Amino acid sequence: MDYSIETLPLNKPQNDCLIIGMFEELEPASAAHTPDHLMQILKDDIDNKRFSGKSGETLTLSLPQNGTLENYVIAGLGKQEKADGQSFRKTLSTAIKVVKENKFSSATSLLALAEHSGNDCEWRVRQTVEVFSDQIYKYSLQPPEEPEPLQHISIAVTVDQQDVAQKGLQMGMAIANGMQRTKRLGDLPGNICTPTYLAEQAIEIAETHEQLSINILEESDMEALGMGSFLAVSRGSRQPAKLINLSYQGGDSDQKPIVLVGKGLTFDAGGISLKPGAGMDEMKYDMCGGATVLGVMQAVTELQLPLNVIGLVASSENLPDGDANKPGDVLTSMSGLTIEVLNTDAEGRLILCDTLTYAKQFDPDVVIDMATLTGACLVALGRVPSGLLGNDDKLCDDLLDAAETSCDKLWRLPLWEEYQEQLKSNFADMANIGGRDAGTITAACFLSRFAEDFDWAHLDIAGTAWRTGQNKGATGRPVPLIMQYLLNRANA
Ligand code: BES
Ligand code: MN
Ligand code: ZN
Repeated sequence: MDYSIETLPLNKPQNDCLIIGMFEELEPASAAHTPDHLMQILKDDIDNKRFSGKSGETLTLSLPQNGTLENYVIAGLGKQEKADGQSFRKTLSTAIKVVKENKFSSATSLLALAEHSGNDCEWRVRQTVEVFSDQIYKYSLQPPEEPEPLQHISIAVTVDQQDVAQKGLQMGMAIANGMQRTKRLGDLPGNICTPTYLAEQAIEIAETHEQLSINILEESDMEALGMGSFLAVSRGSRQPAKLINLSYQGGDSDQKPIVLVGKGLTFDAGGISLKPGAGMDEMKYDMCGGATVLGVMQAVTELQLPLNVIGLVASSENLPDGDANKPGDVLTSMSGLTIEVLNTDAEGRLILCDTLTYAKQFDPDVVIDMATLTGACLVALGRVPSGLLGNDDKLCDDLLDAAETSCDKLWRLPLWEEYQEQLKSNFADMANIGGRDAGTITAACFLSRFAEDFDWAHLDIAGTAWRTGQNKGATGRPVPLIMQYLLNRANA
């Protein structure tokens, strides 16, 4: 699939089909560029209420013209004064679905011409690439034997928008490619996507550019560092755990790095505190935080952002075994703090706490961790926003800003002192679970004790990293959010 920018007026012959946006006021967003004969037919469809311009509505037309058929996909943009980023993304995704269903091999999209509040042409082009690519993605273990029918998209803009559109295209491509890597890793089964596989992926990314360097910590290295908490999780697994450190140096050497930490549990059966069988397959997605870090590192490199970014992926399996850690076990973490394991299924925080301690040596500007950490986050927030918790208001506000721009939603939860009480243990400095109440918050409270020396934010992506049910699959979130945060930092 490739994308290009095309400037108006459109050249003949066109691609297989033309995608035209239409507001509910029944004004095409690109009236001046909509062919007259099409406008005539559209009036008829509108008069007969076959199309009203609502967001998410589409109409496909094939019109004979000069001896050939011209195909049009008309996509509703909603009410013009209410149109925003979110409704625009909905329009993009319904339009590309129709193009796919019709097996067109190429399309020209006029949707980026749809002016609406709060967004500019660069953003609209970028979103076109992100949303289209997201919809076109198809999981496959091997490269597919037959190429996808849809091969080319041109995005139409006016001549004076050409430069910003090119920038939007470049950003959109990098983010879409990063998301694609994240989604594929998420979708891969646990017997293929092991900690070793993730480490190999990181090596593959590192080899693409000299600004990247890689260091993979083996279990023996973790042992030497005293990562007793991390290693307790991997004890029950035959697959060796890995702590992947993929660093990108795009800024001056004295610029403090932004450290990204991802939970990379390639399969979470719960350990001795075994999960119920139903739906357990979905725990192959428990590495989506780590996959996000890898997708972001790839995109940052592709865009050559002038930042220093360190990506840490903490990767292990969590399985029951004769040698697995047990409820009641007491662990000593790298920080020296001791942990009583009350539930071996609360393993994400056990590998992340040592990784946060490890992050300290990089003298980070900020640390952002992302993890499919708690089922409680799904109960509280569903699958709409990721949960956000942190010890620094500025960092949290910056992330909320980035969420708004990228339409990759976030909702902040409190990290108040009162909740820390729930982690009290009679036998160690803390327990690894805090009881039934406020599970997402107490998980973050646990992590906060290992993040006291830097500005830190935690994203609980348990509800947002994958879809369940019929459309089961990884979403590539929160790659767009983190990329937006980094783009904002690069522009500051
Ligand atoms: N990976 C799970 C969290 C999870 C559960 C993500 C369901 C998405 C859907 C995590 O390791 C876990 O098992 N957490 C426990 C914590 C509990 C034992 C305190 C949970 O949420 O049940
Ligand atoms: Mn678990
Ligand atoms: Zn888990």
